[in-house]
Amino acid sequence: MTAILGISAFYHDSAAALVVDGDIVAAAQEERFTRKKHDPGFPANSVAYCLKEAGLKAEELSYVAFYDKPLTKFDRLLETYLAYAPKGFNSFRLAMPLWLKDKLHMRRTLRQRFRMARKTPLVFTDHHESHAASAFFPSPYDTSAILTLDGVGEWSTATYGTGEGNKLRLLGQLQFPHSLGLLYSAFTYYCGFKVNSGEYKLMGLAPYGTPVYYDLILERLIDLKSDGSFWMNMDYFNYCQGLTMTNDRFAKLFGGAARHPEAVLEQRHMDVAASIQKVTEEIMMRMAREVQRETKMKNLVLAGGVALNCVANGRFLQEGPFENIWIQPAAGDAGGALGAALFVWYQLMGNPRQPGGQDSQKGSWLGPRFSNDYIASFLGEMDALHERFTDEADLLDCVAATMAEGKIVGWFRGRMEFGPRALGARSIIGDARNATMQATMNVKIKFRESFRPFAPCVLQERVQDYFAFRPGQESPYMLLVAPVLERHRTALSEEDRKKMTEAADLRQRVNVVRSTLPAITHVDYSARVQTVDEKRHGSFYRLMKRFESLTGCPVIVNTSFNVRGEPIVCTPQDAYRCFLATDMDMLVLEDFVLRKERMSEKVTAREREKHLAQFELD
Ligand SMILES: [Fe+2]
Repeated sequence: MTAILGISAFYHDSAAALVVDGDIVAAAQEERFTRKKHDPGFPANSVAYCLKEAGLKAEELSYVAFYDKPLTKFDRLLETYLAYAPKGFNSFRLAMPLWLKDKLHMRRTLRQRFRMARKTPLVFTDHHESHAASAFFPSPYDTSAILTLDGVGEWSTATYGTGEGNKLRLLGQLQFPHSLGLLYSAFTYYCGFKVNSGEYKLMGLAPYGTPVYYDLILERLIDLKSDGSFWMNMDYFNYCQGLTMTNDRFAKLFGGAARHPEAVLEQRHMDVAASIQKVTEEIMMRMAREVQRETKMKNLVLAGGVALNCVANGRFLQEGPFENIWIQPAAGDAGGALGAALFVWYQLMGNPRQPGGQDSQKGSWLGPRFSNDYIASFLGEMDALHERFTDEADLLDCVAATMAEGKIVGWFRGRMEFGPRALGARSIIGDARNATMQATMNVKIKFRESFRPFAPCVLQERVQDYFAFRPGQESPYMLLVAPVLERHRTALSEEDRKKMTEAADLRQRVNVVRSTLPAITHVDYSARVQTVDEKRHGSFYRLMKRFESLTGCPVIVNTSFNVRGEPIVCTPQDAYRCFLATDMDMLVLEDFVLRKERMSEKVTAREREKHLAQFELD
């Protein structure tokens, strides 16, 4: 037996993954255990979970793989500091203590943190090799082009190459400070969202704007070549030398200072978002065309934080040049842990790889699960009133009927997802046809006021009835945006049309009913689709089937099981607390169902506030 533990840590989104004889046995992100969003610390809980899942002790590991090369990264920090010295001293000084303590002495750190045996070989894979491995090896393709795009690893910020059988080869790269990830993050920062987590909000804001700054960005900020490579004009950015992403010159260019996180969103911010989104798509399309031209491959796999830009991914789907595309669901640095482990198994050990019809990511349901016995005893301890279903069909009937009444259900079944999206194991679900669902879910469950619609889950066999998808195209990881088909769109009244363009409050715009599925249709008629199939999704698929036979509708709303700023729930305890602290109507914990209306003990406003106060607004 060969057991390989992959680890990513000390940057953001720490995680561990375990590959045993080529099989992805477990993977989880540290934030889910520590309840600290994007936890960058050593993933002690994730490692412990992975070992427990496989029934292994730390001494039994054949290899430990770390997802990047600390020394090379240190070298990059040092060189960047020297190039900008003495200006960069502050950021350099803040980064140093952690480097000297943990990062440069990784072997010692690992041995101290989880008793890794002295003899266990420790492998450091290159940051982008880890991303590339996480994209190619679990994919369903025997051969594929590879594209990785992120902020920065050691020096690379983007790489491309090919994967064939059990080997991948990187052929070219872009280097720091020229980075699509950092460029996008700079605009994320400028528009008042959190860097490394608010990027999807910027993407969600873009449909409200007009890309009026597109040419300006190409003229002043970047020099974009026809092959998709580019140089950034560092006169406008501050991330090499300071603690912010952009500087005064940048602010002047876009007509004002960076937006304060809780300040009003102005049309200018929407236009800036639309512009950088268009630039990003243009860069990615050019890169893809170049990579296709050079590699002649018909498949493309993607990873790296930028691969979470599902609007850009959706354009690959609509426009090519590749016939097929697969994206690693844990595309950010958490997925580097999985990539590093797979890299050792295939690339270094040379084990054969036989891709089947489906990818080997197992729906990305790779995290902890909890037995009915465990849940029964927990509910007993809590003295929580519940029903237990012994027949799955009865459970699904009950849940589907509740959803059809417009109620909101917390759905907790099976293994927790690996990657930033809830994919039907830790999800809050509801009826997508309901005109007030978007507002209700946001205000009563998430405690946020969002200008973005929710994402839909659709039965795989019916995706083409609702969304512009190619025949056979799947999106099991919710990483592709596609238009809602014309026939499901509804005509707007003159008043609604006016509201859509002029309402200062974006929530009023998003709440205008534009389709038969208002909860999931964005202002530009796009939707971030997850396709659901029985092989991957089991009882979640069967629940949707039941909902379909009840209502005729194969689409539901799926949002992550958490409140604003909280990591997605991991344990039944997390789910129960979140259920109590919100206005969710029903909670499903494996075979158990709890109904809010029947709970004798209602949570007080003070307890709710206490729960919410634990999480920093994101
Ligand atoms: Fe990365």
